[in-house]
Amino acid sequence: MKETNLLSCNESDLETAALLLKKGEVVALPTETVYGLAADAVNSEAVAEIFNAKGRPADNPLIIHISDLEMMKRYTEDIPNAAYRLAEKFWPGPLTMVLPKRSIVPDIVTGGLDTVGVRMPENEIMRKVISLVGRPLAAPSANRSGSPSPTTAAHVADDMNGRIAAIVDGGECSVGVESTVISFEGYDTIRILRPGLITAEQLRKVIDEVIIDSNILSDTVPEVKEVRSPGMKYKHYSPEARVVLVRESLSEFIKYVGAQPDENICCLIFDQDAAEFPFEYMTYGATPEEQARQIFAKLREADKRGIKNLYVRAPRKEGVGLAVYNRLIRAAGYEVVES
Ligand code: TXA
Ligand code: MG
Repeated sequence: MKETNLLSCNESDLETAALLLKKGEVVALPTETVYGLAADAVNSEAVAEIFNAKGRPADNPLIIHISDLEMMKRYTEDIPNAAYRLAEKFWPGPLTMVLPKRSIVPDIVTGGLDTVGVRMPENEIMRKVISLVGRPLAAPSANRSGSPSPTTAAHVADDMNGRIAAIVDGGECSVGVESTVISFEGYDTIRILRPGLITAEQLRKVIDEVIIDSNILSDTVPEVKEVRSPGMKYKHYSPEARVVLVRESLSEFIKYVGAQPDENICCLIFDQDAAEFPFEYMTYGATPEEQARQIFAKLREADKRGIKNLYVRAPRKEGVGLAVYNRLIRAAGYEVVES
């Protein structure tokens, strides 16, 4: 057991965080999407500690976080022109680009792949620590592998206390779901590997052809051979509670839940559903953006409350709703109800 220091985001605490990272320790840091479990990306032993602390499969690659474009050029090569246009429009922000890696990026970061995911986060605390360290930080979401991603320092502490050197508390994450991950497929064509706040519609304003990977739109467990991003094949975001995703109108949702025999039921519904709702419930916002911000916290809250069966109203699979839907269907282990 390590002692995990809780740091604030004042200057001297951020310098402490940077020193720990330079020494090869793992430190949880806030980003605008979710908290990240960071280590010096060129220190293989430090990166190995991330996999240890998370209990993450070694073939699931990490994203490296940069604070300026020069860093991207030092750690990746053959950067397509389209990547510069995307960086100009969406960085700093919740977009991860998969690019050919240079040999300086250790294999452990990329799970042996010859590409690496790169992101320049919008969160200024995270960018400040990256520049203090002077090297990219490899960072997956700071949850134990398989659990809902953490959007507060308290969530990180629940999963990581005693496993890492420090947690920097930067308050609640403003986006709430992980970055949009894209790869390049030839001239002016990209593929979305994971949906996020930056939507296909927004990307289409900058890039000619934007393919949404079929695993994102599908409601069935991905075939291992069809997986272009290793993260797609793992169980994800799951609370202890059984989660059932219900794609129905409010009245059909109520009818469906009313007919379920199981005990200890709670519903996760939209704010606008709550008036006269007949069962125990929690709400997770009125718009897809609010639902993105709250979804992981509500999944964690369900466990804190000892709920066994959580029936969730599904957002529409479009815009930011697609990102929320994508997390929920995995949390539900692909248990979806629709008529
Ligand atoms: O918003 C985020 O992206 C957060 C914060 C901390 O930045 N990070 C995050 O990391 O969500 P992680 O490790 O939980 O998810 C990274 C995803 C995984 O699904 C992984 O398979 C995919 O990105 N990925 C990373 N490198 C890749 C590569 N070279 N090729 C294909 N997919 C890659
Ligand atoms: Mg994750």
